Amino acid sequence: MTELFSFGKFPILETPRLTLRELTQNDVEGVFAIRSDFEVTRYNTGLAYERLDQARDIIQAIRTGYSDEIELRWGITLKDKPTVIGMCGFNYWVRHDRRASIGYDLVRIHWGNGLMTEAVGAMVKFGFEQMNLNRIEADADGRNPASARVLEKVGFKHEGIQHEQFYENGSFYNLHLFALLRREYLAKQNGSR
Ligand SMILES: CC(C)(COP(=O)(O)OP(=O)(O)OC[C@H]1O[C@@H](n2cnc3c(N)ncnc32)[C@H](O)[C@@H]1OP(=O)(O)O)[C@@H](O)C(=O)NCCC(=O)NCCS
Repeated sequence: MTELFSFGKFPILETPRLTLRELTQNDVEGVFAIRSDFEVTRYNTGLAYERLDQARDIIQAIRTGYSDEIELRWGITLKDKPTVIGMCGFNYWVRHDRRASIGYDLVRIHWGNGLMTEAVGAMVKFGFEQMNLNRIEADADGRNPASARVLEKVGFKHEGIQHEQFYENGSFYNLHLFALLRREYLAKQNGSR
């Protein structure tokens, strides 16, 4: 049995093309490049960053979230390249229910190459095998089919729609809810052996 994750040494995840690692203040420019693009932020965090110190603040918040044992978020790099091209992680972790939620974003020049599917696959494996989760959940703006597709490709099921869940620029929008259960993940693992 692998030792369960307990917010000690930061866990580095490897996929065929990516390394998921801890973010540091050396990543300010990489994070700014991701989050200063409105195409990246529009269905995720809202407004695009305008100043480098916003990137500094999010990195600090992510690092504090880790040291406070509240959230676990990685910087995504191409293997053997130092620059952060995306971010992903568990935004909350309800220990009692063994349930956590994921989020992610990727700099636009790398979209459409299957990279986030790879990163989410690695997070899901970590979540079930090292955090001992029973359920991983995610949500996606109804206008964001690329995000929904990433979740579906990793095996998440569409659980439903919260209609007109949030208000933005004069209109209400739907939020799509997704989840992957431990037993579904294990069944898929056993099926692929
Ligand atoms: C969502 C996001 C992370 C996807 O990353 P990615 O590395 O491009 O994803 P992948 O290449 O692994 O998969 C994308 C899938 O969506 C599909 N897709 C992309 N745009 C689409 C569209 N407009 N309609 C339908 N499907 C679409 C792609 O074809 C691909 O599916 P396929 O492999 O079956 O062809 C990236 O677009 C992003 O960073 N978006 C902005 C941030 C964001 O929305 N984050 C999620 C918030 S919930």
